This record gives sequence, C-alpha cells and structure tokens, in this order.
Amino acid sequence: MTIDYAALPDDFLWGTATSAYQIEGAVTEDGRSPSIWDTFSHTPGAIDNGDHGDIACDHYHRWREDIGLMRRLGTNAYRLSIAWPRVLPGGDGPVNTKGLDFYDRLADALLEAGITPFVTLYHWDLPQTLQDRGGWPERDTAEHFAAYASVVAGRLGDRVHHWATLNEPLSSAWIGHLEGTMAPGLTDLTAAVRASYHLLLAHGLATRAIRAAAPGARIGIVNNLSTVHPASDTPEDHAAATRMDGHTNRWWLDPVHGRGFPADMREVYGVDLPERPGDSAAIAAPLDWLGLNYYFPQVVTADPEGPAPFARQIRRPGVPRTGMDWEIDASGIETLLLRLTHTYGARTLYVTENGSAYPDTVRPDGTIDDPERQAYLEQHIAACASAARKGAPLAGYFAWSLLDNFEWAYGYAKRFGLVHVDYSTQKRTIKTSGHRYADIIREHGERRRRTA
Ligand code: IFM
Repeated sequence: MTIDYAALPDDFLWGTATSAYQIEGAVTEDGRSPSIWDTFSHTPGAIDNGDHGDIACDHYHRWREDIGLMRRLGTNAYRLSIAWPRVLPGGDGPVNTKGLDFYDRLADALLEAGITPFVTLYHWDLPQTLQDRGGWPERDTAEHFAAYASVVAGRLGDRVHHWATLNEPLSSAWIGHLEGTMAPGLTDLTAAVRASYHLLLAHGLATRAIRAAAPGARIGIVNNLSTVHPASDTPEDHAAATRMDGHTNRWWLDPVHGRGFPADMREVYGVDLPERPGDSAAIAAPLDWLGLNYYFPQVVTADPEGPAPFARQIRRPGVPRTGMDWEIDASGIETLLLRLTHTYGARTLYVTENGSAYPDTVRPDGTIDDPERQAYLEQHIAACASAARKGAPLAGYFAWSLLDNFEWAYGYAKRFGLVHVDYSTQKRTIKTSGHRYADIIREHGERRRRTA
C-alpha cells in the first residue's frame, strides 16, 4: 500500500485517541460522581457480557505508562477527553480540584514527552445529576456545559491549545435518545431532536466560553460522518439515502456553518425545535477546525414503517467487514474530507478518529499479529493523503484507539487498540498494527528530512 507522504504537511500531527469513560476506570476516586454511562452500564442487559467501565484500562493510575506507549509509537499528538463528573461532580456548582488536577498532570506530562494534547470536553459522560434534571433535552444542560468548558479551559488553556467541544453529538442524540442502545437509553424522537438541538447549542456556547477563558485556543467540533449510498436505483431508495445523509451528516454540519437546521429533515422529524432568538448565531460560532471520525459507509433502503429517518442500512453480501460488522470502504474518508473542504469551506481538518475492531489473539510468544487492522490503517491513511493531495487541508490523523478499551454497548469484546490490553493483568502489548503505525510516522518524518 503506497502512502503519498509528500501530500501531508511537515508539521502533520500523528496521534492516537481515547475517551475518559472508555479507559480511565477509578469511577469513585477523588470526588468523581456517576455519569450516565455508569448508570447505563450497570443496567442489566444494557451491555454485552454485563461489562462496565469501573476499571476499564485503569488509565487513571497507569497514565505514565500509557504516555510511554505513545512515545514508543512515535506519535506527536494525543486526543483525550475530560470527564465532566470529575471536574464538576454536581454537573454545575463547585469545582472538584482533585479531578482537574488529574488532567493538569496529564497535560504537563504529555507536553514534556513532546506530545500535543487535543482535549475533548464531552465524550458522552454527562453527570447523572444533570440527567436527573432532564439531560440534553433540556436547555439548562447546554448552559451548564458552557460553564464547565470555561472552568476547564481556564485551568488548562495556558498549555492546551487544541479544544474539541463535543465528540459525535450524533451518537449522544440519535443512539442515546432515539435508538436507545447508548446512555441514557431512550427511544423517544422528541427527546432525541431536542437533545440534538441543545447539544449543538452547547457546542456554540462552549466555543464562546473557551475563547473567553483561553484566548488563542484552536476550537473545533468532532462529527462522525458517513458516505451514504442508495441500495438500489429506485426513487424510494434515493430519497432514503438523502434522508440518511440529512440525519447523519447535514443535521450536524449545516447549523454549525450558519445554514440552519436542514428544512427537509425538520419535516422528516416533525418535531418543533426549542429555538430562541440568538441561538442560530451562537451555534454557528466561528471555528478553527473540523474533526472527522470515519469508520464505514452506509448503504440504505427506504423503511417507511421504521423510525425516523425512515431509511435503514442493508447488509451487502460479499463486502469486506470489520469485527464490528461494519463495511470497509477507505474511499469514504477521502470523499468526506473533500466534502468538508468544498461544501463547508473547512480551512483546517483533522481525522479525529479512524480505526477497526477485530478479535485479536495473543500468540504463545505474547505477540499480537493483526494484519486486518494493519491493512485498514494503511488503506485509510493512504486515502487521507490522497484527499490532501486533492486539496483537503488535512493537518492530522488520530488512530482510534491507543488502547483496547470499553467499547460502549459491546463492552470489552470489541478491540480497537493499536495496543492490546489484557484486562486481567492490565498488561499492554503493542500489536503489529501499532508497529506499522510507528513505521508510517517514521517514514513521513524521513521523507520530510530528505526534502528539507
Ligand atoms: O469507541 C468509539 C468512540 O468512543 C467514538 N467513536 C467510535 C468509536 C468506535 O465505535
């Protein structure tokens, strides 16, 4: 697989990504309060195998070792998320200094290791106390989020310059409130649409708050987008693909770019948005970068009896898939990077997540050979380089994930890490794909030095 390194800028960021609830563990330590994921993962039947994040990768205690792993991979950036319930255990109100101290130490140690921290403020772990007051369907949650953002940016903003407000608001709204397979586990269209609105409002209000607390911050939002293809040439399937594109992509991108919520999708949902004067401008606060999480394309057919958006993914036979049963199509990442460039005028792009899960086996000598994950990584990085060659202003790539971790409703059964975690001993082992990632980073560096 050839990667066109020349298309990637010299100061390209090569990183890995994780999120707080998926790796930290230590859920009752140093004043952290429960989040909606603590509640959901302890709900019988919600998570495969009854798994939960109580211990996860024990990163809260092993973060020094994990930074060591990042160094061994040769990465120069790390995308982490802050646990809101560690910082403001009440959701709003008093700050828990011990919680903030953890991220303070982490940021310092990353910088000392030459690794740029990319901080995401919300990767789904809403304090349960705010859920008890209504959660994302309520406007107050957006305002509390902005206050929380201000606290964190005020403490870390002198050293952390890259900020993402939300990770995948689509997952919080649609999967958490409509499909019900993520926290808080609701299946209510009105709640989901209201949550989607308040998430984007929270993003806009937090953007303002971070800029005020940390002038010079580089702020973005992280969306998980998909290319969407009709399953057949019928007008019904084409219309279904347009609706799914609206549900997955345009609903999240248009408002942030000052285009408002897409009219066709407002009609599809048929739910009044809780709009107030000034909200549209707040949601469209100017951004410094856009983050793309890309995993799979969607092939959809019309589903008039199903839930909104009345389109459902089909399973095409004979197409390569990952262990998540997700179709593999590296060209999708290129298409989306170019769409963000040309349709949305992005000036700086990061691939903030991309990766694959496979059922790894540890060989008798303790090594983990994962050729499928390695191929996925190479194909997608090559497609990113191709997008950059065609004009996408791509400034970095973050592999999901540094470590195997708690894969939400799938528990620990799905492994996305470049580094294997033995959950019974917490032993970390770099997989072949991790070594290949290190080679790719090295090759890019060597090319840069040769042409300097
Ligand atoms: O593990 C998740 C991550 O938390 C958000 N993006 C998708 C990943 C893989 O499912």
